[in-house]
Amino acid sequence: MDERRRNSENPRRTTRSGSSDDSVNFRRTRSSQSSANSRHTRSSESSETQRRQIRNSEGSRSSRHSGSTRRDTAEIRRREIMTPEDLLDDDEEYIRRRQERMRRRRLEKERQQKRRRMMRYAAMAAMLVLVISLAAFGISRLFPDSKGSGSSQVTEEVKAETGTQVTTALSQPVMGASDIAKFSEQTTLSGWQSDSSGIWYKNADGTFYQNGWQEIDGNQYYFNENGYVMTGWQIIDGEDCYFDESGKYDSQRVKPMIALTFDDGPGQYTEELLNCLEENNGKATFFMLGQNAEQYPDVVKRMKDMGMELANHTYDHQILTSLSNDQIANEINKTTSIIEKAAGASPTAMRPPGGAYNGTVQSISNLPIIIWSIDTKDWKTKSEEQTYQCVMDNAQDGSVVLMHDIHEWSVKAAIRMIPELTAKGFKLVTVEELAQAKGVTLENGKAYYYFGEGTQQVE
Ligand code: NI
Repeated sequence: MDERRRNSENPRRTTRSGSSDDSVNFRRTRSSQSSANSRHTRSSESSETQRRQIRNSEGSRSSRHSGSTRRDTAEIRRREIMTPEDLLDDDEEYIRRRQERMRRRRLEKERQQKRRRMMRYAAMAAMLVLVISLAAFGISRLFPDSKGSGSSQVTEEVKAETGTQVTTALSQPVMGASDIAKFSEQTTLSGWQSDSSGIWYKNADGTFYQNGWQEIDGNQYYFNENGYVMTGWQIIDGEDCYFDESGKYDSQRVKPMIALTFDDGPGQYTEELLNCLEENNGKATFFMLGQNAEQYPDVVKRMKDMGMELANHTYDHQILTSLSNDQIANEINKTTSIIEKAAGASPTAMRPPGGAYNGTVQSISNLPIIIWSIDTKDWKTKSEEQTYQCVMDNAQDGSVVLMHDIHEWSVKAAIRMIPELTAKGFKLVTVEELAQAKGVTLENGKAYYYFGEGTQQVE
């Protein structure tokens, strides 16, 4: 229904509007024509009026000079003929406009120059300010102490802050006074930071971790007293801990361990050897003869105090396999008593002289029997160099090294190798520690040679 009505209406509307449009167009055309005509008429009228006015003014000018000669009048006539008034007038107008244009242009140019000058001055001033501030900054960096009291004030402020936070943040490392450089970087975001001294961690509140373990993003880190993470091998609470380059703790990484053992002492060189072990934080096992322990009770005591392993090597170096049961027991027990008397502690291992043992020795021995995996043959070579080289060439994780601290060359070789083995990453441990680290439970009467992977027997 709507559709039909629209169809019936539309043609009419179209026709009506079409006719009206045409008429409008027609009217527009006519009016524009007439206006053009009138414009034309008006312009021709105005030019006619202008001409008349000019002629009148010429006339008045000539009437003002009525007293002048006929030659003047002739001259004016001639000019009137030669140059039409319109042209002359246009020239004057043109010159006036041109002068006006030139004046405006000159003014504009002057304004532009002024603007440019101002901008140049502004740029120069900005440069000057920049140079001065840079120079001032450079000078202050060249002479960091030039402020004197200023820097000491910073330290005091930091210390004051430390004082207030110690009580509240015991579970967390607190702000330290030791590294002022950290506080000069207040603008940097929180999180991991690094500088020439190492890597540190900045908390959102500006504090940093220090003096202890800290878990960050599921990893363990250890921050030193200055707030830097520790890297590489470190001894923390007596334990060897490995941290990678970024300070991440690697619990899987264990130092290769070797057990240096010294037989037949103590002797005159043993103290020197103990000094070296102490300096290098190394441990060793001493298989002592009862007769020598009797002679050096203080050395035995010192061994004990230093955490060395005290061990039994019989009283006077008898080959046990050639002895009776009673004699074997006497050799072992007598020595144990002497060591106990000197050190206040019992030996924890025994080594039969010459490494000679059998079932009888094993059954009588009330201690684990420890042999060796590297025999330096130092007693035979009497060479510091060969003893040293033998160990350096063969030492590996789990090795048990045989040397004798009663020989000067052996002790010299030991003093050479101990720092070098430590530097190579070896941990120098007692036999007892080595066995424990490798998960071996030492049993009395049982013989042990080596605690590492596979087998090792260096003769
Ligand atoms: Ni021996």
